[in-house]
This record gives sequence, C-alpha cells and structure tokens, in this order.
Amino acid sequence: MISTVSKVALVTGAARGIGLATAKRFLADGWCVGLLDIDGAGLERAVAEIGKPEETLALACDIADPKQVAGAFDALVARFGQLDALVNNAGTAVFKPLLETTHEEWQRVLAVNLTGPFLATQLAAPLMADRGGGAIVNITSISGLRASTLRVAYGTSKAALAHLTKQQAVELSSLGIRVNAVAPGPVETAMAKAVHSPEIRADYRDAVPLGRYGLEEELAESIFFLCSDKASYITGQVLAVDGGFDAAGIGLATLRGERRNL
Ligand SMILES: NC(=O)c1ccc[n+]([C@@H]2O[C@H](COP(=O)([O-])OP(=O)(O)OC[C@H]3O[C@@H](n4cnc5c(N)ncnc54)[C@H](O)[C@@H]3O)[C@@H](O)[C@H]2O)c1
Repeated sequence: MISTVSKVALVTGAARGIGLATAKRFLADGWCVGLLDIDGAGLERAVAEIGKPEETLALACDIADPKQVAGAFDALVARFGQLDALVNNAGTAVFKPLLETTHEEWQRVLAVNLTGPFLATQLAAPLMADRGGGAIVNITSISGLRASTLRVAYGTSKAALAHLTKQQAVELSSLGIRVNAVAPGPVETAMAKAVHSPEIRADYRDAVPLGRYGLEEELAESIFFLCSDKASYITGQVLAVDGGFDAAGIGLATLRGERRNL
C-alpha cells in the first residue's frame, strides 16, 4: 500500500474516451487513480501509456457484476487504502427502435448504466465516510434529458441515473458525500469520429448552439471540478456539458439558419 497523502479517485470505463481523459485529469492534479474497465487489454494499454505505475491501478471488471465490483474495490483498498472520489462513467448503448429492442438488450443497458453506479456507490460510500466525506459524479447523457429515436433503453437508463444521483445526494449528505451528474452532449471520442457520418456531424452542429462537438478534456474538466473542494456546496445537480443543446429546446431550423448567416 502506498502513502495515503494523495487523494484517490476511482474512474469506471477508464480504458478510453471520457473516462481515460478524466483519469488523466485527476493524475495531473496529483491524485492516485484506480482505472476500472471491462476491457482488460484496453485498460493495460491505457495504464502503460499513462506511464505512472505508482499512481495508477488497472481494475479489469464488469461494473454490472456485484462479485467483480466487490473484488475491484478490495484490490483498490489493498493498494491505496482510501477513496475520495468515484466517477461512474462506464456506459453501454444499444441504439434500436423501441419495438425491436430485446429483453436482453434492455436488461444489459440498465445493468451497466444504472445498476453499475448503484453497486459502485454502495461500496464507495463507507470508504469515503471513513475519510470524513467525498464526491461522486455519475455520467448521464443529454439522451436522459431529452427523448430521441432509437434510445429507449439508453435514454431511459440515463434519465434513471439522473434520479439515482438525487437519491444518492440526499441520503449520502449525512456522510459528507456530495453526488452530482454530468450530462455530456456529443463528444469527440474515437468512437464518434469513427461512426458519425458527415450528415450526423452536420445535424449536431446545427442542434448545438456552440456549433461543435465537446472535447473529452472539456468533460474531464467539469467532472474534476465537481469532485474538487471548489464544488463543496454543490450536490444533487445534473450539469449538462453540451454546448447549450439542452437549453435550446425546440428551436427552429430556419431561424438557426439565419443565425448562422449573421
Ligand atoms: N461520447 C459521447 O458523445 C457521450 C455522450 C453522452 C454520454 N456519454 C456517456 O459518457 C460515458 C463515457 O462515454 P465514452 O464516449 O467515453 O464511451 P466509450 O465507449 O469510449 O467508453 C466507455 C468505456 O466503458 C467501458 N465499459 C462498457 N461497459 C462496461 C462494463 N460493463 N463494465 C466496465 N466498463 C465498461 C468500455 O469498455 C469503455 O472503455 C458513458 O457513460 C456514455 O454513455 C457519452
């Protein structure tokens, strides 16, 4: 076990994307970080690339499996001995029409996106309480704020996670634990770069007032802020980091076009 001077964060879904950027943000501020992911090989690559073996711990784990999650927490405690922040970022998506979404797909999306954060938070809270408190950030989505086609399981899981955030914030406040959510808009991840067609990219540019995708680092910054002491009076909130997508409401394509021509 290393010295307990540094603060310790656990980031789930940290092998790539927003989770990896978030792990790097904590490390840049001198925290130690447990990086948890179902993709063991990807996780090893990420940790090797970070190159800070003393400050990082790779935890191969399916966040939806209670036994694996308990094992990951045991390993985290054995290594770092404390936990100050938890980022429930691991997520999975099935984008299918409502009538074609199978029971298994529905169950899996709910298990990873909703049950995972429930399980991890139950194990994190007592560790944080031992330290006098801590902070938890759940990663939801604009798909949990506004309904859209093909997102019956994904959007519902994220809306439920937003409510779980409030439940957790209210109940865990007595332990000194703050719980908030970050709802990303479209983010320039490797997957988005690979699968978003030029037409989809144009649609997002049109629907997002700031007119662009968010960067992984911009999400990491907001997540880190909510975990830091600078956010010491913020709990139970869902912060949309979405370039204004949620604020825009219905909008009118014609008027947006005029704005673009200004
Ligand atoms: N990228 C976006 O545009 C966007 C938008 C809104 C919300 N989000 C949310 O942000 C979070 C991160 O998204 P991302 O774009 O970086 O995704 P990503 O797919 O690049 O990364 C997600 C990570 O979670 C891991 N993971 C998946 N299932 C897991 C499980 N059962 N147990 C442990 N790890 C698991 C994956 O292996 C992967 O490394 C997700 O919760 C996602 O729903 C992303």
